[in-house]
This record gives sequence, structure tokens and C-alpha cells, in this order.
Amino acid sequence: MLITNQSLEPDSSTQKTPDKEYANRLYALGRFLFVRRSYSFFQNLRQRPNPTFYKQRLNICERSLFEEFNVDMGVEQMRQEGVSFGLRLPAPLIEQIHDYALQTPCTEPGFPEEFFITQVKNGCLPCGHQVLRALVSNVKGCDAIAKIAQDPVLLQIVHNYLHYWPTRITKHLSWSVASDLSDEEKRRRYPPATFHYDIAGFNFMTAYFYITDVDEHSGPHVMLKGSHGKKPLPILLSSNRHPDSTIFKHYSQENEIVITGKRGFGFVQDPSCIHKVIPPVTANRLLLQIRYS
Ligand SMILES: [Fe+2]
Repeated sequence: MLITNQSLEPDSSTQKTPDKEYANRLYALGRFLFVRRSYSFFQNLRQRPNPTFYKQRLNICERSLFEEFNVDMGVEQMRQEGVSFGLRLPAPLIEQIHDYALQTPCTEPGFPEEFFITQVKNGCLPCGHQVLRALVSNVKGCDAIAKIAQDPVLLQIVHNYLHYWPTRITKHLSWSVASDLSDEEKRRRYPPATFHYDIAGFNFMTAYFYITDVDEHSGPHVMLKGSHGKKPLPILLSSNRHPDSTIFKHYSQENEIVITGKRGFGFVQDPSCIHKVIPPVTANRLLLQIRYS
């Protein structure tokens, strides 16, 4: 059985759910390393008496798509550098996800209409609106994505890195649309194009898969290796988003990596690291992100 995008917290139907704004305010604490570590510690303590219960709720698939991946080495690399490479999706799954993204309506934050990516020509919809990103709706309807999210090797990486079985899994499939706007305009309209760190709960990690080929000009993910740990106070205590000039006052440019790969290329990352996307110029990028928290 495949699970959907929703929280796996026990008895969620009977719990009083805090409103989203309140939850987001609390999650803001996830920017602090000691909060993320403490959360892992307490979740581990909570799950320790009955880990099977928490594992079974994830409906983990029997066979992995990533049997070649060395979990111990991957997790160690995540701890050291904040990222580990070596995941690869099989061609039929890539095809299935790509088709799903072509046939499913998309939205863009701040734009009221739904649209299909196939309606976007030269970066524009027929109404003239310039699209920079298109978030594919109803991702839970794609079985291929559910299968990846419930992969036994991927979930073992998550468990070993976070020290607990995740209680929430969210999936995001999004197009970054090629455009010839100025860099400044792109950064203004496309927030992930500015260096930032994610704050997505009390502790979390993400698996990324390129569903289209990605080179330097078609939307590579960029990150600073090793930036997922302690952060300099000016970076930690103000916004989570900073221009390159501020970031490189505190981090060496030598640690910057531009992540390119063919369709199906995947990696796991601690998104508390400093990262951004370079908006595509030559081709649209389709990215699958699965976040575990
Ligand atoms: Fe991010």
C-alpha cells in the first residue's frame, strides 16, 4: 500500500491541530542546530520502546530502487558535508513522473490561475504572464513518487541520519522555467534563486531527483558543502535568505558545488545547508523533492 503526502503523527484526527501560522512560528526554531539535535534525541527516545510501530506506519516497499547505495557511507558523508550522491532512478519511473508533470495542472505562487506546463511557450502563458516556476498539483496522485518516498534504502538513510523514523513526508514536483530575464529580476521573483537555508520543521532532510537533464545552464542546485552545521550569528539570527556577498563573507567559495546530472540523478541533503538554484536559461528543469521530518 502506498501512503500519501500527509503527516504520519499518531491520532492526528483526535489531536487539536495548531493553526498553520502557529506551527510555522514554532518550526522557525528548527533553524537552531541544538533544536534539531534535541528534537532527534526526543523522537528517538519516544520511538525506542516500539520502533516497529513507527516503521510499519511508513508502509515501506519490499524492494529498493537503490540497492547499490551504501547507507553507512552515505549517512557519514551527509554528516560531514551535508550531502551524499549516488541515487539513481530507473528509466520507467523517470518517464512516469515526467508524463505526470506534463499532464497535471500547475500553480505558481502569487499567480491565481492553474495552467499546464505545456501551455508555457518561451517562458510565457498565452495571457502574457511570465512563469518562472510551476508547482505540479496533487503530487500524491503519482504512484511512482509514492514508491520512491517509501523506498527501504531511502528511509533507512533518513532513519540513520535523523535518528528516528520520520513522522511526516512531503513531496514536491516543480518546474523551473527557462527565462532570459535579468539575474536581479529572477532573484526578485524566484526566492529559491537566492542563497538560503530551509527551515521546514524541528528536524528534516530531503531527497532530490532531477527528472530532466540538468547542466550549468538548466537549473542546477548549488550548495556550500559543510554549511549544515553551526552557522555564523549574522546568518543564523537574521533572515534565512542572504545575497552571495553576505554568504561569502562567512563561507569559502571553495566549498561551493554546482550539482549537475542526467535525468534520474538523485542525492540526499540536509537542507539546513546554504543552497540555492541557478534559474535555468536553456531548458526547463523538473525536480522531485521528498522531504522527511
Ligand atoms: Fe531550499
